[in-house]
Amino acid sequence: MDPVTRLGVVGCGLMGSGIAEVAARSGLDVLVAEATHDAAEAGRRRLTVSLDRGVRRGKLSEEQRDQALARLSFTHDLGDMADRQFVIEAVAENRDIKTDVIRALDKAVEDSAAILATNTSSIPIIDLAVATERPAQVIGMHFFNPVPVQQLVELIPALTTTEETVERARHLTQQLGKQAIQAPDRSGFVVNALLVPYLLSAVRMVEAGSAVPDDIDRGMELGCAHPMGPLRLLDLIGLDTAQAVAESMYEEFKEPLYAPPALLRRMVAAGHLGRKSGRGFYTYTA
Ligand code: 3HC
Repeated sequence: MDPVTRLGVVGCGLMGSGIAEVAARSGLDVLVAEATHDAAEAGRRRLTVSLDRGVRRGKLSEEQRDQALARLSFTHDLGDMADRQFVIEAVAENRDIKTDVIRALDKAVEDSAAILATNTSSIPIIDLAVATERPAQVIGMHFFNPVPVQQLVELIPALTTTEETVERARHLTQQLGKQAIQAPDRSGFVVNALLVPYLLSAVRMVEAGSAVPDDIDRGMELGCAHPMGPLRLLDLIGLDTAQAVAESMYEEFKEPLYAPPALLRRMVAAGHLGRKSGRGFYTYTA
């Protein structure tokens, strides 16, 4: 199978910038698209800061950082994705936005055999696949946060996705130095279906006043060797993202354990989204 050399990444937020960074460090030519010129420039800065941090921590040399930066280009015009062999969209977790983006990519990418992957964590892959003229070449590729660190990619074929598309996505996952598992096109896939009820249970514990966040987190870190406890992890994921994932799981299964607790909703409404807003279950300084 020919390796992917020209990758497109749409969206340069937390997940998109992580995917773009890993791909550029793996030697791929990466075109990153954002909605506006300013957002694309912010994405470029985020990637540069992350690569600089990699140099400071001895993960890569200055030469490797410069090579990775040279492989990255930025646009705010999805039409520039025309020559891409594989595009991963990682825009906001919103059904309308993702549908618009995948439709636009379908029109923009000239090679009708090119693959369009979505990093959605909650929208059925089939809904995005049938919005395109190439439902056989649409697949879910679910990365984990922080993308440069977490080894897993869940591959989620829709009912329309061919085995060849799955194999090409698996091959790209290997090129990125990550490991794939195959997951069903049902809300939560494999990992979130197990993780989300656990995270929400921790929120309910805080809500009930039975334990404070630091005790809950240290309990799971020291007692079960989790790298971070559930509330620190929610702050990392983003409380808005966690709420969106939980809502979609609840909508699909009507399982009470998936229903976002009132405290989570209130915190999201207040803008306490976790690390990215400076405040969640904990406060963060830049
Ligand atoms: N980018 C690149 N590297 C990073 C990074 C980032 N954003 N954050 C941390 N790292 C690297 C550091 O460079 C360091 O590498 P080194 O040990 O080789 O020097 C290593 O990760 C550890 O970092 P720190 O020492 O700064 O901090 P910690 O030891 O506390 O680790 C952590 C931080 C990697 C975030 C770790 O706590 C962890 O793995 N937490 C669990 C994360 C997790 O469960 N993610 C999945 C979330 S679910 C999801 O994403 C799905 C979605 O749909 C909801």
